[in-house]
Amino acid sequence: MKSLASDNYAGVLPEIMEAILAANQQHAGSYGHDQITHRVFQSFRQAFGEIADVRFVFNGSGANVLSVSCAVDSFSSILCADISHMYVDESTSPETFTGCRLMPLKTNEDGKITVQSIKERIIRIGDEHHPQPKILSITQPTEYGTVYSLAEIREISGLLKANDMYLHIDGARIFNALVSLNATIKEMITDTGVDIISFGGTKLGMLFGEAVVVMHPDLSKNLKFRHKKSMQLSSKNRFIACQFEALLKNNLWQQYAQHANQMAAYLNEQIKEVSRITVTKPVQANAVFAIMPRDWTKALQEVMPFYVWDERTNEVRLMCSFDTTKDEIDEFVEVMKSLP
Ligand SMILES: Cc1ncc(COP(=O)(O)O)c(C=O)c1O
Repeated sequence: MKSLASDNYAGVLPEIMEAILAANQQHAGSYGHDQITHRVFQSFRQAFGEIADVRFVFNGSGANVLSVSCAVDSFSSILCADISHMYVDESTSPETFTGCRLMPLKTNEDGKITVQSIKERIIRIGDEHHPQPKILSITQPTEYGTVYSLAEIREISGLLKANDMYLHIDGARIFNALVSLNATIKEMITDTGVDIISFGGTKLGMLFGEAVVVMHPDLSKNLKFRHKKSMQLSSKNRFIACQFEALLKNNLWQQYAQHANQMAAYLNEQIKEVSRITVTKPVQANAVFAIMPRDWTKALQEVMPFYVWDERTNEVRLMCSFDTTKDEIDEFVEVMKSLP
């Protein structure tokens, strides 16, 4: 049975499996001292620009924690959305590993942090009694599956730079955002002034592993030490590198991210026709959020599992993956239409 619960429920892309098998043919240097890792660094530099420095990590929480730790002192604060994965789904690891205060910002109805909400938090600068804001993390696409435009990212990064702060992107689903905006990696990330990004591959069909990509020399200065200290340096680093090599080669990511987004758009179209269900957020990447009758949940979850996002309103999250099919969506919607 396939699932709409999370793109993490999906398996591994065939091209990724092949890349792992190919990387498994010989012995190679450990801890990133191997040919595949060297080659992939070049691919990242081609995609992001020569400024980019890259490290591979085991998971998304590790990528986020390593990223923000590059920017802060232990008396800093880290601004993020109050719905962000970093704030609600990473236990206390960001605080534990950085020693900093996480400052949650209210988001607008699309789940985005606004310039106004950031300005309200850039206060008491120079006051030793107050945590000093040093980095802001936005999630692209947001936890609601909406996408910041390039102009919105540029505006946020401009405000942060003017206040001696850095911009981090939690890009667990960055490929879905890139195809949504029809933008290149360089256009969305480097050219908008992002300083550091958790660059996700797992949700698009890697077996495991994410990358931290740094675009600011201040943040890459001690990166290799922070990487090791955060316990995210894999001795068999090449097995993460080879997966990114497969995804970046000929922009393979585009085809799969496009498919996942198209499936979400299709699902959105189909459920619009169903009375008693209301889509609650603009569908801009691979997620559909909708409020449905509470007594539908169990029957529909038996067709394809999904998460109830907000128990108070029975808002649910329906997340499409690289291998979701139209037929599966049709079946799901048919059952929905048959419910009283
Ligand atoms: C927005 C976002 N960031 C980061 C992550 C990474 O989490 P993990 O540490 O489980 O790989 C996830 C996974 O669900 C996510 O949705």
